[in-house]
Amino acid sequence: MKFETPAGINPIDQLKVIGKPTDRIEGPLKTTGTARYAYERNDTVSNPAYGYVVGAGIAKGRIKAIDQTKAKAAPGVLAIVTAESAGPLKTGKFYVDRLLAGPDIDHYHQAIAVVVAETFEQARAAASLLIVSYTKTKGAYDLAAAKDSGALLDRHQWGPLSKTNVGDFDGAFASAPVKLDETYTTPDQTHAMMEPHATIAQWDGDKLTCWCCIQQLNWGARDVATILGIPTENIRLIATYIGGGFGGKGTALSDIIAASLAARAAGRPVKVALPRPLIANNTIHRPATIQRIRIGATADGTITAIGHESWSGNLSGGGAESATAPTQLMYAGANRFMQMRLAVLDLAEGSAMRAPGEATGMMALEIAMDEMAEKLSMDPVAFRIKNDSQVDPERPNRKFSTRKLVECLQTGAGQFGWTKRQTKPGTVREGQWLIGLGVASAIRGAPIMRSAARVRLSREGIVTVETDMTDIGTGSYTIVGQTAAEMMGVGLDKVIVKLGDSSFPTSPGSAGQWGAASVTSGVYAACVKLREAVAKALGVSVDEAEFVGGQVRAGNRSYPLSDAAKAAELVAQDEMTYGTLSREYAQESFGAHFVEVGVNSYTGEIRVRRMLAVCHAGRILNPKAARSQVIGAMTMGVGAALMEELVVDKQVGFFVNHDLAGYEVPVHADIPHQDVILLEDLDPTMSPMKAKGIGELGIVGVAAAVANAVYNATGIRVRDYPITLDKLI
Ligand code: MOS
Repeated sequence: MKFETPAGINPIDQLKVIGKPTDRIEGPLKTTGTARYAYERNDTVSNPAYGYVVGAGIAKGRIKAIDQTKAKAAPGVLAIVTAESAGPLKTGKFYVDRLLAGPDIDHYHQAIAVVVAETFEQARAAASLLIVSYTKTKGAYDLAAAKDSGALLDRHQWGPLSKTNVGDFDGAFASAPVKLDETYTTPDQTHAMMEPHATIAQWDGDKLTCWCCIQQLNWGARDVATILGIPTENIRLIATYIGGGFGGKGTALSDIIAASLAARAAGRPVKVALPRPLIANNTIHRPATIQRIRIGATADGTITAIGHESWSGNLSGGGAESATAPTQLMYAGANRFMQMRLAVLDLAEGSAMRAPGEATGMMALEIAMDEMAEKLSMDPVAFRIKNDSQVDPERPNRKFSTRKLVECLQTGAGQFGWTKRQTKPGTVREGQWLIGLGVASAIRGAPIMRSAARVRLSREGIVTVETDMTDIGTGSYTIVGQTAAEMMGVGLDKVIVKLGDSSFPTSPGSAGQWGAASVTSGVYAACVKLREAVAKALGVSVDEAEFVGGQVRAGNRSYPLSDAAKAAELVAQDEMTYGTLSREYAQESFGAHFVEVGVNSYTGEIRVRRMLAVCHAGRILNPKAARSQVIGAMTMGVGAALMEELVVDKQVGFFVNHDLAGYEVPVHADIPHQDVILLEDLDPTMSPMKAKGIGELGIVGVAAAVANAVYNATGIRVRDYPITLDKLI
């Protein structure tokens, strides 16, 4: 089915199941420990061996030799795979990193061997007996030092937007009566998902099955095929449950390549989990940025010039962190200048982490907006509202499909008690604590992707949905079930949802916050076909038929839905594809964040006291799941504001704090109170579901709202994240 014109009324609009705050259908399996994750699939895989990935001990250089004598003689060892024994491996399409390297080393902890043994402990012990000798070469690890060596980019990694130069930025900025020119930095961050990257690989002749935790199984199969040099059709990936991803598990990483090569070498299934201390330097991360923002405005607060430059680094061939992308769409301003430079750094690969581009860029832009409001003696909410734009500011004949940023800001300000904010910083005190309020806007692209599904109707009236969509803890199972239930006029208890198997029809997977909107649209398309098959089987016209309460009504006749499958199970499959609407309209989701902090006036300790997010993301398919996504993202935003930083050792060339003891993320006690308001809306340009993504939107702007609240509390402006207490005293 092709979606070409804005959606009208359709069966989804009945809202009998869709739009309800339904509990997760797989929730009990997870809370009782019955849901099996990749590494736990001993129920299916018999007698697996264990693989242990060895990471390079240097950041850049060459392996002189790997002495395997002792490791091979260690108890239980079955095989040792290195780049030399594996033969040449290609890189996949998405990541530029070589997932099993040698003799050249591109970054610290890059995989150089996998040791296979009967038990995990034996594999780990034998791995420690490998004697690797290296020749080191000099690498570049310091973004600040390398930044101007980087190439200018004319394309974003995550979108079609390029560098821009609209109007006369230099002239308008120079002549602006009020202006700001500041530089902000954001650190490298790691995803720190609960489940480490893990795979069990099993060969059956030349067919490979992997139980894995890849967010986009279609990309995973494609990239494993390319790397190993085998046909995609010979690969089956199964990821029934995934313990978090945040973009850190987009496609193949070293665990799946190590497990696949090890299973081939050992002649039996092999399971590999990346140990936590390997993840930060072995896999991908959110790259650090240096961002310069210039804003010029007239005295009444009208932005006349807006400039955003961003510097980031990556392995050779990797992409830039698209920090300027949100500024291209966020605020009005006739004269605009955006530019990114990308330096080559010999650190692990930088890539997607929740709202890549927007999350990072808005950490800077939304502090700059706060600083500008102060220079203008304007309320920061009012300053943002004054510069709202209902059209793409760089392409004024392109409208936003829907954009309620102003309503998000106004609703939030009212709900949060924004009028209590004191303009002069450092003036509100409760005992030792200085109290401050901060605000920031949020924007995140809401792409819609082609997605396929199959639906079956059994003679018992059970509807089964199959698609290779993953559920990374987001609620995919539930909203897919809700969509099929609504379309077929049955309760959710009559629907079975099967996800996470690449042998099912292809979805775009969980990424880019496109999952919910895209995958339910594919299910919608398949259900339209199933409705046609049902009508045909019952001998009624599908245009007349109403699917409701487990019945099919046509005129004054009514049949149980299951009657249609009396003779044989009905099966329908379809794919939702898209016309030009996503080019005609800028499709983005929007929000506003409000934060109250307390800062201890003696110790500089920062405590977030209250948070509120107001989100505008089209139809909310399941308010409970959506709220969970947003509060999780808000929590991650607090981490970005106050804690998260991969510290670079600029001599050795690696992330020092590469485990959860050294890399701090928020815990429950750090987050006392969070509220989420979901603004009711429909976006008919997106799909028949009228929904947009919300899962990544929730993190965007949060860190800046915290930073602005800290400033309001203390009068100290910190422009280098994370805002740790040493920066306040
Ligand atoms: Mo997301 S960072 O696009 O999985």
